[in-house]
Amino acid sequence: MSILVTGGAGFIGSNFILDWIEHQEELVINIDKLTYAGNKENLTTITNNSHYKFIHGDIGNSDFIQNLMKKYQPRAIVHFAAESHVDRSIADPSAFINTNIVGTFSLLETVRAFWQNSDEGYRTAFRFLHISTDEVYGSLDASAPAFCETNPFAPNSPYSASKAASDHLVRAYYHTYGLPVITTHCSNNYGPYQFPEKLIPLIIHNALSGKSLPIYGDGKQIRDWLYVKDHCTALRCVLTSGRVGETYNIGGWNERTNIDVVMTLCDLLAQLKPRKDGKPYTGQMTFVKDRPGHDQRYALNAAKIESELGWKPQETFETGIYKTLCWYLENPNWVAHVSTGSYRHWIDQHYQA
Ligand code: NAD
Ligand code: TYD
Repeated sequence: MSILVTGGAGFIGSNFILDWIEHQEELVINIDKLTYAGNKENLTTITNNSHYKFIHGDIGNSDFIQNLMKKYQPRAIVHFAAESHVDRSIADPSAFINTNIVGTFSLLETVRAFWQNSDEGYRTAFRFLHISTDEVYGSLDASAPAFCETNPFAPNSPYSASKAASDHLVRAYYHTYGLPVITTHCSNNYGPYQFPEKLIPLIIHNALSGKSLPIYGDGKQIRDWLYVKDHCTALRCVLTSGRVGETYNIGGWNERTNIDVVMTLCDLLAQLKPRKDGKPYTGQMTFVKDRPGHDQRYALNAAKIESELGWKPQETFETGIYKTLCWYLENPNWVAHVSTGSYRHWIDQHYQA
């Protein structure tokens, strides 16, 4: 028995694989294109583990996927592979269309062909778990109730539009062909191994490097933060007990303004690694030009997964952010390795504008 993970060298995928290896005794095959966001170093602790196999490849390469399906006959696919950064999708949406939409379509087609030609036992047991985002639901007003699974899609960025398109395809493969799919919508994840282009690791990295802490617009936008390890537990739970054809929201019940998040990090950094000059890190905060089409608020109602599957996040924002900061402080080499070459180019280009 095995499962196949796509995009397992990225932030959430690598956390998922590490968590899987810790809890299951089943082969996990990680296929990843190793874009700028993919990093095999995240998984060095399990490179020689007999339950883990890495294969370099593209979800859009149907021959490649077909051969893997034949060889391993995985009982499930956990589909993380995507372009995931909103700002990059604004700067150049093409990779988002290619991977998130066309790539997911190609993956679905190849998997469907294999699944349809398999025996009934395999067909019944098989799951295609598609990892999506709360961003497909659009933006909420301050007083609006949190997004439920029944909210209509209203994506506002090329990233969220491309994810919404892939969600629709996944849904269609269930209704049209009967492919046993489940889709999850998670809120903003944070934790170990997150690439320092996203808010939390960027702020930590910049604070420690003495650089400015860029806050878009007025910083009052709200995100609902989910500790990545809680997300991994939820995904294992959905894979085991989730109902086929359903969607599940996975959120942390942790709404925070961006300003709050940055201030919390500055305060914690002052305790754990004070600046050499004794000044507060908040002095590095800088308000910069807002993101075009910036969604004001995301909030997820995760009551369905809680009542149906019994999953609840273990971490509060306070405990999760503390663990996250400690991880970054203990792993300066990881950050140093990923923040070279193309990373610097992106940062220079994006924050100069
Ligand atoms: P990430 O950008 O860190 O990692 C994406 C991974 O996919 C990388 O390892 C990359 O090399 C790989 N990849 C990209 N294109 C590929 C292709 N064509 N074939 C094979 N591999 C490819 O992303 P993440 O933050 O880990 O997000 C994982 C998934 O979760 C994504 O689908 C994303 O939309 C979703 N999600 C993320 C968040 C978040 O807060 N990070 C929130 C909601 C949903
Ligand atoms: P991000 O981590 O890019 O996730 P997403 O856009 O998917 O929510 O951004 C989180 C929030 O932080 C979002 O409202 C944009 C804001 N932000 C900044 O204020 N400054 C930054 O440098 C970045 C990267 C994000």
